[in-house]
Amino acid sequence: MAREINTVGVVGFGTMGAGIVEVLARTGIAVKVVDVDAAGVERGLGHLEHSTERAVRREKLTGDEKAALHGRVTTSLDLASLADCDLVVEAVPENIELKARIFQELDGILAPEAIIASNTSSLSITEIGVHTRRPGKVVGLHFFNPTQVLKLVEVVRTVVTEPDVITDVVAFTERLGKSPVVIGDRAGFIANALLFPYLNHAVKMLESKYATREDLDAAMRYGCGYPMGPLALLDLIGLDTAYEILDTMYHQSRNRLHSPAPLLKQMITAGLLGRKSGRGFYTYDGPDSPVVV
Ligand code: 3HC
Repeated sequence: MAREINTVGVVGFGTMGAGIVEVLARTGIAVKVVDVDAAGVERGLGHLEHSTERAVRREKLTGDEKAALHGRVTTSLDLASLADCDLVVEAVPENIELKARIFQELDGILAPEAIIASNTSSLSITEIGVHTRRPGKVVGLHFFNPTQVLKLVEVVRTVVTEPDVITDVVAFTERLGKSPVVIGDRAGFIANALLFPYLNHAVKMLESKYATREDLDAAMRYGCGYPMGPLALLDLIGLDTAYEILDTMYHQSRNRLHSPAPLLKQMITAGLLGRKSGRGFYTYDGPDSPVVV
């Protein structure tokens, strides 16, 4: 019989953390969120407010449901507040040392049967899990952006993850209304391994003036039925995040398809990170200002 997962912790209240918190709270689950400082907590609550307010405007939630959803979320700056959680999902930036430290601390705080999951998009779950005394209860739980909308969750198993833990986590993600897939621990898992060479190739095509920004995006929207073109999608994901994912995949595979397009690095250095910074391949906070290639 599947174990009951009733109280869930989330570590990291950025874009992905806030999306995960919203999905959990919307399902009626009590969520405890921990971020590193008060500003992080404020930012996360801001994401949650913005997204749930949009849901109210679109008549997907009533005002009362929104209030109840927010009432299920408690925040803290202290990992110790997660002591009674059945499952903790870590969603901090893609830094292996940071994740390892959080897993080690959580291992000392949580009950022995609690599951610890990482939302990492490309780092090794095995490498993170060995920093605990419970690697059999460590999994990847990779959500997609926007988390509130996209149904996929990649459940990542390592060579030592206990089969029961996978069964329980799969059942749990289904309870959230998601469509889980199970995959082994390889950089990019399924979706990013297929998606990122394509996104990278689009940047290389723009860089070599092979096609314009508009035509690259239009081709994939109108020719292949994708909801967004590759450059608009990179702006949604964040160019810095995309670079980190490609770089990790490249170091693991040495496959040229994963070698990040130089233009990506130049744009990141210039502060063009996509939607979150107001400008990437497109401009979100003022008159359009395409990059010069
Ligand atoms: N937060 C919450 N809800 C959102 C949202 C957001 N950021 N963006 C859109 N939505 C909701 C809207 O409220 C709307 O909900 P409704 O239908 O219930 O009213 C619905 O999504 C559709 O939104 P819109 O009508 O505004 O716009 P679109 O129909 O163009 O959809 C989109 C927007 C959902 C972003 C769609 O374009 C899409 O799916 N794009 C592709 C996104 C994608 O591929 N993501 C994966 C990135 S890779 C990743 O995350 C992995 C990681 O490791 C990097």
